[in-house]
Amino acid sequence: MPRGNSALSAASPATRPPEHVAIIMDGNGRWALAQGRAREWGHRRGAEAVRKVVEAAPGLGIRTLTLYAFSSDNWKRPAREVALLMRLFRRYLSKEAARLAENGVRLRVVGRRDRLAPEILEAIELAEATTVHGRRMTLRLAVDYSSRHALLEAVRLAAADGGAADLERDMVAALLGRATHADGPSPDVDLLIRTGGEQRLSDFLLWECAYAELYFTPTMWPDFTAQDLAAAVRDFGSRERRFGTVALAG
Ligand code: IPE
Ligand code: IPE
Ligand code: MG
Repeated sequence: MPRGNSALSAASPATRPPEHVAIIMDGNGRWALAQGRAREWGHRRGAEAVRKVVEAAPGLGIRTLTLYAFSSDNWKRPAREVALLMRLFRRYLSKEAARLAENGVRLRVVGRRDRLAPEILEAIELAEATTVHGRRMTLRLAVDYSSRHALLEAVRLAAADGGAADLERDMVAALLGRATHADGPSPDVDLLIRTGGEQRLSDFLLWECAYAELYFTPTMWPDFTAQDLAAAVRDFGSRERRFGTVALAG
């Protein structure tokens, strides 16, 4: 059944692993401040947590992992912090691409590209090309990402393509993919995890999370481990997803 129609499937406990997991990696700054260090330290340690979680994900049956690394609103942070986040992002791309490729992970950077520095764009293109044959899992890194901007852009694309009157759901997913440079439709999220204790979406994957199971943990992102990801996936397995229908008898 196509992903876009998953909401029509019969109610059932979520016995299969979540195909698409999205994570709002929050809490780097508070984690560092709690230890009497600068927020920047939290971002450095946060980048290390990314590596471990990405390595663990395919073994848990996850086929697509979308990580919220930098929101469009994060540009409003002090210039020094933004510059560090961009440096860490670039370093991650250049250091990890070969390893991701070896592990069968395909990398895509999703979000806006019109405001990123040329050296970042270059690193993105190289990392995406290096990992293009990855089939075990797709890792989508959301950078300069805003879900509302993506939706606006999707509407603009539809209008430019001749109008939105005949649009269907699956076509919106495809437009969202185009709007965010995802190279394919933006898939529905099965499990959304947010670390750091806040319980909000902060403009992340609003369309794609229509029926996502939500998992909030107080664990700050630098402390989030492969075991924590496995625990979230187990929790997902105990949820009953009904998609608006009624539970099956027996
Ligand atoms: C998440 O951690 C990383 C980014 C948003 C880039 P934060 O930097 O938001 O950390 P807190 O939420 O302030 O602790
Ligand atoms: C969301 O976290 C963005 C990322 C984790 C990249 P924020 O820390 O920016 O979100 P708010 O400000 O708490 O909503
Ligand atoms: Mg935060």
